[in-house]
Amino acid sequence: MWEEIPAGTTTLRIRRPPSAEDLIDEAEFADDERLPYWAEIWPSGRVLCDLLAQMDLAGRSVIELGGGIGTGAMVAAMRGATALATDWYPAAIAFSRWNAANLGIHMQAEVMDWGDPPAGVLAAAPYDFVIGADILYEERNGVALAALIPRLCGPGTHVIIADPRRPDARPFVDGMKGAGWGYARDDVPVPGRVDEAGPIVHVHRFGPPPTDHKAPVVL
Ligand SMILES: C[S@@+](CC[C@H](N)C(=O)[O-])C[C@H]1O[C@@H](n2cnc3c(N)ncnc32)[C@H](O)[C@@H]1O
Repeated sequence: MWEEIPAGTTTLRIRRPPSAEDLIDEAEFADDERLPYWAEIWPSGRVLCDLLAQMDLAGRSVIELGGGIGTGAMVAAMRGATALATDWYPAAIAFSRWNAANLGIHMQAEVMDWGDPPAGVLAAAPYDFVIGADILYEERNGVALAALIPRLCGPGTHVIIADPRRPDARPFVDGMKGAGWGYARDDVPVPGRVDEAGPIVHVHRFGPPPTDHKAPVVL
């Protein structure tokens, strides 16, 4: 099916599978409880797209974590970034590449499991922006991301995660703050379907812990 994603003054028209449920693979679920959430564009994903569409990202490097079809990376690339979409589902990456090509967007898309990031993705760090939407929906996600994100960041990196107030986001946010990361949060009202706790998506912003006694930098 086709879906339209408003992003600032433009709209991304992307193609995705009509039903994530139809893609459920019992063997994959039995293996590591993996579910094909990639096949939907979630409300937080839309918030992230709209936010990125307001930003000038010319010449900046952006990696999207758990991007699914990678709409965040697509908007970042449209705003001038060198963008990389990642997800652990090869099918998500295939859709990401197809949609980017169909829209004439130049970006990369790579399979990446947060627990086992490819050497090439780490070698390209630090990224200017590490972004994600609705990736903190299970406790194990926060644990994996808290270990991965510092490896993708340098002193000037901005981490932006849009989150529909998933309960499992809290330990991640508290853990990052406790580890000295700078933190700010925007609350963005969303129309239509909401996931956990009402019509607000949290946009969490983190800046790496300072190395020189200065305050951490958060956008
Ligand atoms: C709720 S979906 C959000 C998709 C997209 N960011 C959006 O907002 O529309 C969560 C995404 O995280 C990905 N994901 C979950 N665990 C992952 C892991 N360990 N490594 C990489 N991606 C993962 C899923 O495959 C899925 O695409």
